[in-house]
Amino acid sequence: MTSTKEAQKRRCLAVVLAAGEGTRMKSAMPKVLHKVAGRSMLGHVLTALGDAAIDEVAVVVGPGREDVAREAQVFAPKAQMFVQTERLGTAHAVLTAKAALEQGFDDVLVVFADTPLVRTQTFINLKAALAEGAGVAVLGFEPADPTGYGRLVHEGDKLVSIREHKDANEAELHIGICNAGLMAIDGQQALAWLGQIGNGNVQKEFYLTDIVSVALAAHHHAVVVTAPEDEVLGVNDRVQLAAAEAICQGRLREAAMRNGATMIAPDTVFLSCDTKIGRDVIIEPNVFFGPGVSVGDGAVIHASCHFQQATIGAKAEVGPFARLRPGAMLGEGSKVGNFVEIKGADIGVGAKVSHLSYIGDAVVGAQANIGAGTITCNYDGYNKFKTEIGAGAFVGSNTSLVAPVKIGAGAYVGSGSVITKDVGDDALAVARGKQMEKAGWAARFRAGK
Ligand code: UD1
Ligand code: CA
Repeated sequence: MTSTKEAQKRRCLAVVLAAGEGTRMKSAMPKVLHKVAGRSMLGHVLTALGDAAIDEVAVVVGPGREDVAREAQVFAPKAQMFVQTERLGTAHAVLTAKAALEQGFDDVLVVFADTPLVRTQTFINLKAALAEGAGVAVLGFEPADPTGYGRLVHEGDKLVSIREHKDANEAELHIGICNAGLMAIDGQQALAWLGQIGNGNVQKEFYLTDIVSVALAAHHHAVVVTAPEDEVLGVNDRVQLAAAEAICQGRLREAAMRNGATMIAPDTVFLSCDTKIGRDVIIEPNVFFGPGVSVGDGAVIHASCHFQQATIGAKAEVGPFARLRPGAMLGEGSKVGNFVEIKGADIGVGAKVSHLSYIGDAVVGAQANIGAGTITCNYDGYNKFKTEIGAGAFVGSNTSLVAPVKIGAGAYVGSGSVITKDVGDDALAVARGKQMEKAGWAARFRAGK
């Protein structure tokens, strides 16, 4: 047995295949940029690789796919990019990264960008099999329905070849253990072995899977590393994309709950890969977390909220039916109630925006109280303007704050005001029509009808 420490000393190249056409997605966007839990499938794969002690990453993209290369660089800034100009099969795709393979590595890990749920540990397991002497380590699994997958052909308990579904005979089609696609290859041999693969099969493609028989012919041996089906799901269409999303959501919910959050109906809470949820957070049903959201300890999220790029402070209370848009920052113990939308605004410690408001491009001081129906009028059709509300201010219901405008600390604003000028600290501002009354008018009016 080789120790993990020794395995880590080996130099590893990961070749990520992202040149698929993804025609079955029926999309203007390349398949690997479709998102699972708010992150592209390519981003998922590169993130999992990032923790697997990989020395170099090579990404193989299709021609003209600068968008895929750009996305790869977000998650692996040092990755080398290779363009596969013709889609001639998975072995051909790996050979596109020849210049990277020639740099000389102990291990070459081949990873599919359309298989987004593989865990870091599985990459480590594949590498470990090479460290223990295998020439090729194939990732295998037992799918409920093996249709379409390559079959792992054994003689006794020895892996001898992989047969693609389309090339398999009747007996081979009955094999339950399948190829997940990913594999690890001896880096000293990879180029030579890949070069020996031909395209004499029904699809006239250069199959990476043929490397198993090539390695055996060269007196090396191939092994199978297994993973559960929910880790190796490949996404070829949007039905499989939804299946991957469901699995990923399950993992994220479980992690949040194990970390100390309560979810009353976890199946109705949708998280992003980067959602951060503290301890003793309570999340009621039907809440959607877009990317970039963090929730502090002890916060309560009532039912039916939608969040994106927002920070919810400790012990804050949000919803039901609240929307937090990019740049919403809720201070500790603050409250954002029903039918309230917050965008680009700091809500101070203990401040309250309890009902039916839009607060955009604003700073609300600590302990301020924003009455029902208050609107910051932040946009004139061309530019956005800022509203500043001082600590402890009290803004009466149904107020329009026409930005740019400042409400001083401790000031009061009368309900129904349209505030266009700054209000001093501790002042009262009322900006609405004066009430008048005509005694008995209504009775005279009715009598006349
Ligand atoms: C592949 C495996 C199959 C396995 C299955 C698991 C081969 C020959 N077959 O089949 O044994 O059961 O995955 O999901 O490897 N790609 C390129 N360039 C190419 C061809 C493919 O970059 O020329 C990329 C695709 O973008 C994709 C990956 O390689 O990310 C796999 O290709 P795909 O055509 O989807 O292979 P499968 O038929 O699914
Ligand atoms: Ca596939």
